[in-house]
Amino acid sequence: MKALTWQGNEQVEVVDVPDPRIEEPTDAIIRVTSTAICGSDLHLYGVLGPYLEPGDVLGHEAMGVVEEVGSGARGHLKVGDRVVVPFNISCGHCWMCERGLFAQCETTQVRGQGKGASLFGYTSLYGSVPGGQAEYLRVPQAQFGPIVIPDGTPDEQFLFLSDILPTAWQAVRYADVPPGGTVAVLGLGPVGQFAVRIARHLGAGRVIGVDRVPERLALAERHGAEPVDLDRFDGPGELAAALIDMVDGRGPDATIDAVGMEAHGGGLVAAAQKATGLLPDGLARKVTDKFALDRLDALHAAMKGVRRGGTVSVSGVYGGEQDPMPMMEMFDRGIQLRMGQAHVRRWTDEILPLVLDPADPLGTLDLTTHRLPLAEAAHGYEMFRAKSDGCIKVVLSP
Ligand SMILES: NC(=O)c1ccc[n+]([C@@H]2O[C@H](COP(=O)([O-])OP(=O)(O)OC[C@H]3O[C@@H](n4cnc5c(N)ncnc54)[C@H](O)[C@@H]3O)[C@@H](O)[C@H]2O)c1
Ligand SMILES: [Zn+2]
Ligand SMILES: [Zn+2]
Repeated sequence: MKALTWQGNEQVEVVDVPDPRIEEPTDAIIRVTSTAICGSDLHLYGVLGPYLEPGDVLGHEAMGVVEEVGSGARGHLKVGDRVVVPFNISCGHCWMCERGLFAQCETTQVRGQGKGASLFGYTSLYGSVPGGQAEYLRVPQAQFGPIVIPDGTPDEQFLFLSDILPTAWQAVRYADVPPGGTVAVLGLGPVGQFAVRIARHLGAGRVIGVDRVPERLALAERHGAEPVDLDRFDGPGELAAALIDMVDGRGPDATIDAVGMEAHGGGLVAAAQKATGLLPDGLARKVTDKFALDRLDALHAAMKGVRRGGTVSVSGVYGGEQDPMPMMEMFDRGIQLRMGQAHVRRWTDEILPLVLDPADPLGTLDLTTHRLPLAEAAHGYEMFRAKSDGCIKVVLSP
């Protein structure tokens, strides 16, 4: 089959790879009908390169049709079912899963690397599981993971249940915005866009959206955000002061960091991030593990711009081990901090009715800017990374 593979720093390529097969009784094979490129894939493209091997199949946002089901998953799935596949692989019955902490599933945890649940297409840190930017996908733990959905509507209505909808939902729930309160969303990529809409839907009075890309600011504004252009400020301190100013001199009740380690800014750190992509593998790995490699502008603005006693909710992915944090300010201002990979299945039952509503309250059909054949995936990565041609979300058709 054809699949999109990592080949080196900022290099991906569609090549022929062996078709996946059922390996465990709890596996299923799906024929992928739509698969998206995520901001998290951009970290693989660059800084997480040391944890990939040339030929690794990427992708963790996939949906399709069940082709084959192992004997252990037949209670949940049958051939021909239309399904969306959550990006984290969870068993549904371990200690963590019983508590809804699906991103920490103890059955699929990657203990050798000291990491949480396995993820599709996301490096040796997360189990080296072949990803979903491919014609077919082997889905482990298929007795629990895949969400069966009805036929007859466009894929985009459901595709984002695989990751960015539950991620944004968790970001907003973790942000704990009081009814009628204010939340600022930093970063208006696909995750930030849905965070804006979900915050409105769940009752925030004001939603402020921060980014520097004009069409991303415009899309967020169309869905109810007050747009704030990052380029008006010189550094996170100035942005934080502006947020505080905008909300009664006190600041928003919550801030959401939907940026993560690709934040713009931080010249030196940016240079170090780039260097890890260039160093020999072993060395680069050490650098990523041991040093402060994240660009922290967005996170620091989120922490300094939230009101005293407010909540910072981090959905952006970070990877440094010794990143400097403004501890005095965090402590003195009494902020709460919540973060982590989304526990996808914990939220999908709450989101599904909204996705099924013909009025499309979360605007699932108003996000994708580019649909490309899988064969053009490399071009999709480049466009999404460069944010060129108005690119906000790329969906691939295998
Ligand atoms: N926690 C999870 O489970 C989970 C799931 C999916 C994605 N993510 C992470 O969420 C983040 C966003 O993903 P995405 O797909 O929306 O990616 P994206 O790269 O398209 O979006 C990031 C946006 O942030 C903006 N930005 C950069 N620096 C900024 C700054 N200092 N302040 C404000 N905005 C800034 C960029 O212009 C861009 O629009 C990524 O880090 C991704 O890895 C996490
Ligand atoms: Zn994703
Ligand atoms: Zn589990």
